[in-house]
Amino acid sequence: MPAILQLKFAPFGTPPKGVLIVFCGEGLKFGPDVRRALAPTGDLVTRAATAERFQGKKGSILDILTPAGLEVTRLVIVGAGKVADLKPEEFVKLGGIAMGKLSPAATDAQIIADLPGSAVKPERAAELALGVRLRAYIFDRYKTKRKEGEESPKEIKVAIAVAGVAAVQKAYASRDAVAKGVVLARDLVNEPANVLFPEEFARRAGELKKLGVAVEVLDVAAMRKLGMHALLGVGQGSERESRCVIMRWNGGKRGVDPIAFIGKGVCFDTGGISIKPAAGMEDMKGDMAGAACVVGLMQVLAARKAKVNAIGAVGIVENMPDGKAQRPGDIVTTMSGQTIEIINTDAEGRLVLADVLHYVNKRFKPKFMIDLATLTGAIIIALGHEQAGLFSNDDRLAERLIKAGQATGERVWRMPLGPEYDKKIESKFADMKNTGGRDAGSITAAQLLLRFVDKTPWAHLDIAGTGMGSPQSDTNKSWASGFGVRLLDRLVADHYEK
Ligand code: BES
Ligand code: MN
Ligand code: ZN
Repeated sequence: MPAILQLKFAPFGTPPKGVLIVFCGEGLKFGPDVRRALAPTGDLVTRAATAERFQGKKGSILDILTPAGLEVTRLVIVGAGKVADLKPEEFVKLGGIAMGKLSPAATDAQIIADLPGSAVKPERAAELALGVRLRAYIFDRYKTKRKEGEESPKEIKVAIAVAGVAAVQKAYASRDAVAKGVVLARDLVNEPANVLFPEEFARRAGELKKLGVAVEVLDVAAMRKLGMHALLGVGQGSERESRCVIMRWNGGKRGVDPIAFIGKGVCFDTGGISIKPAAGMEDMKGDMAGAACVVGLMQVLAARKAKVNAIGAVGIVENMPDGKAQRPGDIVTTMSGQTIEIINTDAEGRLVLADVLHYVNKRFKPKFMIDLATLTGAIIIALGHEQAGLFSNDDRLAERLIKAGQATGERVWRMPLGPEYDKKIESKFADMKNTGGRDAGSITAAQLLLRFVDKTPWAHLDIAGTGMGSPQSDTNKSWASGFGVRLLDRLVADHYEK
């Protein structure tokens, strides 16, 4: 897959170079501009389609090398299925599929954004371009060698041919911001923990200042002063100091209450004294996917100058076993004053979030708080890698998140909360304990968080299954997904900007 993508838009009729990619509807139907582009090939496409029984079903591919009549090296026809039924989100996928057909050797390509039926709207062409960008992402900064025969990725120029370049460029501006935010989130999640430890995470978040985001970093002394002992307890067994980063984007009206996004940022989760088994532990470098999403989202909001006041707050720690590490049985006092008995030091994410949720709620009095966390293995058992778990004390916020999930393909499934579950985290010694046993593990974790949000509308997204290690998709081939950035950007754009 090519490393450096140069994406631009060109008017229909621009002579293609390199690989030409076009779309067709079911029954091998083409849009007028594709028909014009393919005219010099005569009946080649029909003959090739017949030979391959290609009919243009959604996601199917017809690949023709050195097509006679065209000055291109390859002609790729991507099936779009029933074109009238295509949802906006599917244009992102089509862009991803198109990008996926380019080999590392390719240097030039043209994708014609034309379909049979009605003309492709500028927004849809821009979504297609977003899909191209997302699919082009690779994380290979630590690869110094290539296998034999495997060429090193080159720069690739992709032109998307559209009806009106200016209109598409305008529509694409916000998608460009989204693409960069997703890439930032993926980079943070893919980065190993020896490179990305709390201080370094905070430094990278600090780069958002260039876009006009106010970034504050709380160090250990500052957090001690605030009484964030639940968060600090998680980090106390690590050589790396904990941090809390608060990002503020004030694109909305002055004095209007902000909306707030909170992320779990465990740079590495060994489990602590309740140490995890060795197999697969390397994946716990991604235990900061919630925080990565919050940073990526703040970048999007700033880059597209969103008309909203938004807070991003992330608790950044490393959970290590050590002579100074916290023990099962320890009791910590949270910033809210409530006490938590530690039963299992591997249930650390909720401890970090308890303090950050309370801090944000108290300081900013936000309209709502949404937290994202790779919180429980149990959510993977419940929902697999397809949807994130959604927990909320507010039906309207939950409904909006579900809709935004359907619109972006970053889907969320609502899970229950309730006093029955809350009973399971009662402690003999403290106000609560940090685990409620195996049953309903994702729900009891959410119940603990709920105790730190008061009456504020709140939603918790458990992204343990979707933030990393999810199956590769048309728009992502990397281990980290950047899940949540597109979802939350859509939520903000649809409901919280004026
Ligand atoms: N970071 C893990 C959850 C996780 C598991 C994320 C797999 C991604 C993939 C979390 O801190 C954790 O260890 N949770 C425990 C909780 C238990 C001790 C109550 C779990 O899920 O087993
Ligand atoms: Mn853990
Ligand atoms: Zn964890």
